[in-house]
Amino acid sequence: MVAFMRQEEGLLNLIQKVFVSGKLRTKKMQRKRRYKTYMAPGSSNEKNTDDGQASKENFIHLCNPHLEKMKEDILYHFALGTGTHDFPSLFGDVKFVCVGGSPSRMKAFIAYIAEELGLGTPGCDYPNICAGTDRYAMYKVGPVLSVSHGMGIPSISIMLHELIKLLYHAKCSDITIIRIGTSGGIGLKPGSVVITRQSVDATFKPQLEQVVLGRTVIRSTNLDEQLAKDLMQCSKEIGQFNTVIGNTMCTLDFYEGQGRLDGAICLYDEEEKLQYLKNAYESGVRNIEMESSVFAAMCNLSGLKAAVVCVTLLNRLEGDQISSPHDVLVEYQKRPQKLVGYFIKKSLGKV
Ligand code: URA
Repeated sequence: MVAFMRQEEGLLNLIQKVFVSGKLRTKKMQRKRRYKTYMAPGSSNEKNTDDGQASKENFIHLCNPHLEKMKEDILYHFALGTGTHDFPSLFGDVKFVCVGGSPSRMKAFIAYIAEELGLGTPGCDYPNICAGTDRYAMYKVGPVLSVSHGMGIPSISIMLHELIKLLYHAKCSDITIIRIGTSGGIGLKPGSVVITRQSVDATFKPQLEQVVLGRTVIRSTNLDEQLAKDLMQCSKEIGQFNTVIGNTMCTLDFYEGQGRLDGAICLYDEEEKLQYLKNAYESGVRNIEMESSVFAAMCNLSGLKAAVVCVTLLNRLEGDQISSPHDVLVEYQKRPQKLVGYFIKKSLGKV
């Protein structure tokens, strides 16, 4: 396992050495390679603007050399393809991508952000760009793309593979991607918002274990520190709800995986459950959800600046069932949207 992890790290290091450490000698070569695969995470490219000034742009790093050989790329679960859709003209201006579990929440988010950015018309319906499929829903207004990802690691992983390719084919640069969602809190008042410092697994390690070609690979789940701080500052400026930066535990299921006592199967007692959650708290975990680890790992490998912002629907030290009234839960779910909406507005100089 460790050997394979080293092998993967070795490959990334090699990529980094070749493409980041100045071994692409001339600017001409750099420009030529701008959209090539294997751009190392965190690298940027110099581009001459119309007035001759050099500007730095971060492009998507596609860790897959095979894609370059394909004449056409069909993003099956989005019902979009490079042979049928002009990605640069449809998506080339995207700068912020927000992803969340539910299609209706992501539609509500696009309506909210359109209003906030002054880009909406009252009563306007936002068309689902992925209307050709019911797997995922996608909405766009100005520089903001809003995409649903369903529940759990497998679902968000499939969506992210296609989303990252979409951004690459569209030649997008300087993207900020944020997962907005719900979670179970640990030791926090329900309704608190957690900005993830690190996504950790069910043993509190900041990693994602994935089986590729029958071998386990381990990927880092770090998120952008500065982005987390910027989001925290935004929450302070809004001043409407409690927000903390903490670790987020990403589990494989909602019931046993999160130590609940109310699933169809539970072979541990309340004391064991509470001890586990307290251990999680001690290790820095403040909330639990089911998507952040693969989100962080894939964004890391693709050089995307990423954050996770989730509201807590309950305090898991006090119970397992989500029993708050519907209107209270609806208001809680708007909190990550408000925070990220404010961040986008501020980033665009509209606050
Ligand atoms: N989402 C989760 O994964 N867990 C919770 O407890 C609540 C929302």
